[in-house]
Amino acid sequence: MKWQALFFALVTAAFCLGPGTAAPEQSLREAAWSSGILIGAAVRPAQLSEAAYASTLAREFNMVEPEDALKWEVVHPEPQTFDFSQADQVVDFASRHGMKVRGHTLVWHRQNPKWLTEGKFTSRELAEILETHIKTVVTHYRGKIFAWDVVNEASDEVHAGQLRSTIWRDQPGIALDTGRELRASNRDANEKARSGPEARSAQRDYAYIEQSFRWAHEADPQALLFYNEGADTEMVNAKSDAIYAMVRDFRQRGVPIDGVGLQMHISNLHADVASISTNIKRFTALGVQVHFTEMDVSLAVDANGNASPEDLQRQAEIYRQIAAVCLANHGCAAIQTWGFTDKYSWIGSHSKHTRGAALLFDQNYRAKPAYWALRNELEAGRR
Ligand code: G3I
Repeated sequence: MKWQALFFALVTAAFCLGPGTAAPEQSLREAAWSSGILIGAAVRPAQLSEAAYASTLAREFNMVEPEDALKWEVVHPEPQTFDFSQADQVVDFASRHGMKVRGHTLVWHRQNPKWLTEGKFTSRELAEILETHIKTVVTHYRGKIFAWDVVNEASDEVHAGQLRSTIWRDQPGIALDTGRELRASNRDANEKARSGPEARSAQRDYAYIEQSFRWAHEADPQALLFYNEGADTEMVNAKSDAIYAMVRDFRQRGVPIDGVGLQMHISNLHADVASISTNIKRFTALGVQVHFTEMDVSLAVDANGNASPEDLQRQAEIYRQIAAVCLANHGCAAIQTWGFTDKYSWIGSHSKHTRGAALLFDQNYRAKPAYWALRNELEAGRR
């Protein structure tokens, strides 16, 4: 009878601690401890007052990144107004729970305020606006945000290897006009490193990126500065080749770049880990680190936002593979998911709610198979 009771207690305990429970006995951040990999999540400040959101975030992660709160439309809503209230909540939360903070993002073509995009500024004005923005935001968080996505998604999605048309590149374009004046002090180094009309044209396009890194570095010389990109650049291809060439050029000429963010939004239940690994290796060989910055694995969902059990298992395997490829490459220093609960994710509203269930916890903060796969891999992963 005694043995039966003991057996029952053990089975109950195993069940309670196993997949599908709300409070795992060891958290991701504990599992990641021995490997030194940072484990992060993108965060929405409005949700921090929700007990389950806050407790899960604090328990599981040692890094956070404001999902939208540091984008121009939030932080710089009027020409002369900076509003740090939302992002400050995330930074305060992180400081109370021993978490690092990534900053996202200083230069992007989306989520910019109308006063900026419709302002019809001259090149000189636009350059001054960008310099003021970068320096004001980075200075506000000096010593609090350890890594910045300085420039986000600058690559053209259609024409591999080219930069996309944005207000920064060509409206009227820091890189095309004022950029030349702004870069006058760097001219000698630039001319030594490159020559010929093609190289000069590429250099002109990339100049706003270079300048942004220089301004961010001036504002906080200790912060790690990243170029962040998605849309297949996680693998080796023409787009990531162009980013690689930019990073190599920046490193050769002393432009302060410390890392590359590979977003890792996966929507086809497939990860080409061999190619991702080769990509990480070539970037880290340049002396920069790699962060996986925005991982999620979206699935087809029903009207209630639920995915099939089979897809949830396949999703778990993707999370495992991605953790493994990061652990296997020393310069891969962080894995961050874009949100952490399926209750709040950009995927639903951006797919007419046909896709979702992309994260580690379900809508009720229960750990999913993906959570266990990631956690087990982190636990096993010794570097
Ligand atoms: O600001 C309005 C708000 O006033 C309004 O009440 C609300 C109603 O829906 O919409 C708000 O705007 C939303 C904004 O996020 C702020 O929450 C937009 O509709 C929504 O489209 C926007 O989506 C964000 C998206 O970037 C915009 O491109 C997502 O939350 C955010 O997760 C997503 O993040 C990007 C990364 O920054 C870069 N990489 C890709 C990633 C996924 O798209």
